[in-house]
Amino acid sequence: MAFDKAFIESLRDRISIVDVISKYVPLTRKGKENWGCCPFHTEKTASFSVSEEKNFYHCFGCGAHGDVITFIMQTQHLSFIEAIEKLCHDAGIPIPAMTEEQRRRDRESHDLYEVLKMAADFYKEQLYSEEGKVGLDYLKSRQLSDEMIANFHLCYAPTGNKLVQYLKSKGVSLKTALDAGLVRMSERTHTPYDYFRERVLFPITDSRGRIIAFGGRIMVKDDNLPKYLNSPESLVFSKGRNLYGLAQARAEAIEKKQVIATEGYMDTISLHQFGFKTAVAPLGTAITEMQIELLWKMTTEPILCFDSDTAGRKAGIRAALRVLPILKPGYSLKFCLIEGAKDPDEFLHAFGHDKFQEMLDTKCISLSDILWMYFTSEREVKTPEQRAGLEADIQREFSRIKSESIRKFYLDEFSKRMKKQFVKIMSEKKVIVPKANPENSNEKMILAFSIAYPNLFSKFLESGKKIELTHPVYKKIFAEVISEVSVNPHTRETILRFLNEKGYNPQVLLKFELESLIKRPNDASKILDEKILRFDLENLNNELKDLNVRVFNVPADEVVKVQNQIQVVKDEIQRITEKLEEVS
Ligand code: UTP
Ligand code: MN
Repeated sequence: MAFDKAFIESLRDRISIVDVISKYVPLTRKGKENWGCCPFHTEKTASFSVSEEKNFYHCFGCGAHGDVITFIMQTQHLSFIEAIEKLCHDAGIPIPAMTEEQRRRDRESHDLYEVLKMAADFYKEQLYSEEGKVGLDYLKSRQLSDEMIANFHLCYAPTGNKLVQYLKSKGVSLKTALDAGLVRMSERTHTPYDYFRERVLFPITDSRGRIIAFGGRIMVKDDNLPKYLNSPESLVFSKGRNLYGLAQARAEAIEKKQVIATEGYMDTISLHQFGFKTAVAPLGTAITEMQIELLWKMTTEPILCFDSDTAGRKAGIRAALRVLPILKPGYSLKFCLIEGAKDPDEFLHAFGHDKFQEMLDTKCISLSDILWMYFTSEREVKTPEQRAGLEADIQREFSRIKSESIRKFYLDEFSKRMKKQFVKIMSEKKVIVPKANPENSNEKMILAFSIAYPNLFSKFLESGKKIELTHPVYKKIFAEVISEVSVNPHTRETILRFLNEKGYNPQVLLKFELESLIKRPNDASKILDEKILRFDLENLNNELKDLNVRVFNVPADEVVKVQNQIQVVKDEIQRITEKLEEVS
């Protein structure tokens, strides 16, 4: 923009909107407002109001709305700069200096907005013509309502060079038509031709609703043509700086503090049709920093709701990585991962409004979650080198976060996540990796003792000592023995029969242990003592191993606690080792 914001603000304050408009429209004062017949549509009763206090005009008949500058632009057909120059000139206010270049660009962009609007009107007429019926039918076949077709100004580009002819007949220069991206020069015939042909068109507007470009879709699949053809970039259209649907979504988005960014035109319109009037779409590219800034102007946590295919998932990840440098306190992104349909459009038609709402309410994941998924999915972090690799990746990506406080919180959170992940993997390992003693010989011996000497064993139980076996089969049999011998007196023969009746066969399972215990009845007690001590010792050694890993993976404030536990376990190991030396 050629003038700085402060100057324009001051101009709006210094010039009385009522004074200016009353030069063109007779106004009568009623209460706080001034009323007249609207200059933007024909009417007999005054529904056009001008408010000095609010500094704008509003027509209750046709909805025309704006400030003193837009009033002059529209009624006098002037560009923004020209309107300001006129207002300054009429009010005797000096005009800030402006370069020739600024003046030229302003004039040119004004011309482009005008020709784009003319083209949209032409294309809209085509949609409702005989030739455009295929287009209208196509839109209906996509289940678009009349209201949405109107609200998004959907229209139709016919065959041939009808727009070239039309614009020529309206006195539009060829240069302007070319600059607007509506027309191209044939290299072969050196004559202009229509850029959009036989496509339904989705006009793209800026945030103020001015048409700046078109997206055009073919109606029948054709591998030789792009599905969507978009206007080339121009003085007024830059893909990465605009969002499809922004003008339609803006007010509701700000009010609801919600924006849903989808991948496609159709997704955005379907969302509006199903009542989600905060939907927008980036324009056929990966979402840009500028577009994220636009989303953040409406809400602090825009929701990205991309397609469910790999491309859509990747686009989500790309957005998550791209946003890192521009993150600012309080602002982030959320990700809604669609399930059960390929995109929001298909989802809505298949499952309806309520299910989509439910998905928004329950399935959105945070930026940090999607980043964690990105860092950890499809990679192993079992070895120290793999872990260091993960840590390096995380640090490299997060070093791009410019906000110091956000960077710090991300690094903190992810180092916690890493520790948790490593501990988790450790505990998973414990299950898979076989114990040092695969035969569980201590457990076997303890179980055999309880069968060979049930009487002695029940006395031992009375002492209150608890033994928990880990081997699943021994554990089951052991539980049977304990519950039986603690209520009924047993001999070796009766307890064996009892177990056999229960379906166990310890005679085979514990053949060697039973034989060796029975051979040495005088030593049996000693053997049990020793086995139990060894059993305890083994458990304590396992516990010590776990604690030694844990001490490196807990947050700093828990380290001392774990070190104390380690000491307790070590003391116990020492005690048992001494006792073992005594008994054996
Ligand atoms: P999709 O291929 O997902 O299209 O492209 P869509 O939105 O589902 O459209 P329908 O439902 O088939 O009509 C998503 C977006 O990518 C851009 C368009 O902006 C489109 O809306 N695109 C796609 C292009 O610019 N050119 C293409 O050829 C395809
Ligand atoms: Mn899609």
